Amino acid sequence: MDGSHITEGAANAPFYQPQGVECETFAAAAARRLPVLLKGPTGCGKTRFVAAMAHRLGRPLYTVACHDDLSASDLIGRWLLKGGETVWVDGPLTRAVREGAICYLDEVVEARKDVTVVLHPLTDDRRILPIDRTGEELEAHPDFLLVASYNPGYQNILKTLKPSTRQRFVALEFGFPRPEHEIPVVARESGLPEDRVAPLVRLAGKLRAMKGQDLEEGVSTRLVIYCASLIAGGMATEAAIRAAMIEPLTDDPDVKAGLRDLVTAVFG
Ligand SMILES: Nc1ncnc2c1ncn2[C@@H]1O[C@H](COP(=O)(O)OP(=O)(O)OP(=O)(O)O)[C@@H](O)[C@H]1O
Ligand SMILES: [Mg+2]
Repeated sequence: MDGSHITEGAANAPFYQPQGVECETFAAAAARRLPVLLKGPTGCGKTRFVAAMAHRLGRPLYTVACHDDLSASDLIGRWLLKGGETVWVDGPLTRAVREGAICYLDEVVEARKDVTVVLHPLTDDRRILPIDRTGEELEAHPDFLLVASYNPGYQNILKTLKPSTRQRFVALEFGFPRPEHEIPVVARESGLPEDRVAPLVRLAGKLRAMKGQDLEEGVSTRLVIYCASLIAGGMATEAAIRAAMIEPLTDDPDVKAGLRDLVTAVFG
């Protein structure tokens, strides 16, 4: 599907540790058929949250990773030549609208303008998807839910959502989990015992405090999980930290040296 990526709902419930009332808010929005926007830094649990909620609500999930080449037809569908005949093939958005699934547009700010235009009649009380190429005007299935996410942190001022788009969504802000949540999440995902995860999470807190000064983004929960997984697999702690919690954050030698000092401060 031309760069887009479709996943169906998982058979087993995905593990998601709530941080606040996001699960209740999402469920309430879904019940009232209101689109949901997830804002937050990379690797803080947005995708996992959507997977867990889709499972909880019993709806299929179609995920589309947006990028600057993604066109409206990638989402809606296109005519394809099949054995001498032209047949219409629904895109992931159209399938979700027809079947009553969740369509999750990841990094929606990356999408082209023609994509946001398509979203407007779907995300207000009309809930319709006009398909120009077939002349169809689809009314959304009652269980259709549009979810979009983006990272407001990147310093590209042009890549932000227009008010007319963002004010069509109920929005949830995600941050990194508090230590009492992040420690069990990392332990569970990596297999490293909690007492060995705790100092890594403490280090993550210190690295996150440097965001905006030397670092563009704080270290993600995803990277802490990588680090813990390397250690659980037998790698020496210091090497694992360097590979998973320092090198991915910066290329600047001075900043790296500063980060290594932080590691020494936490681990002694
Ligand atoms: N609250 C949480 N409960 C369970 N797992 C979590 C939670 N927060 C983070 N994780 C873990 O962190 C990993 C990264 O989270 P996820 O992929 O959902 O991030 P994301 O916010 O979608 O990032 P990106 O913006 O880069 O796509 C997940 O695979 C999961 O293991
Ligand atoms: Mg994601």
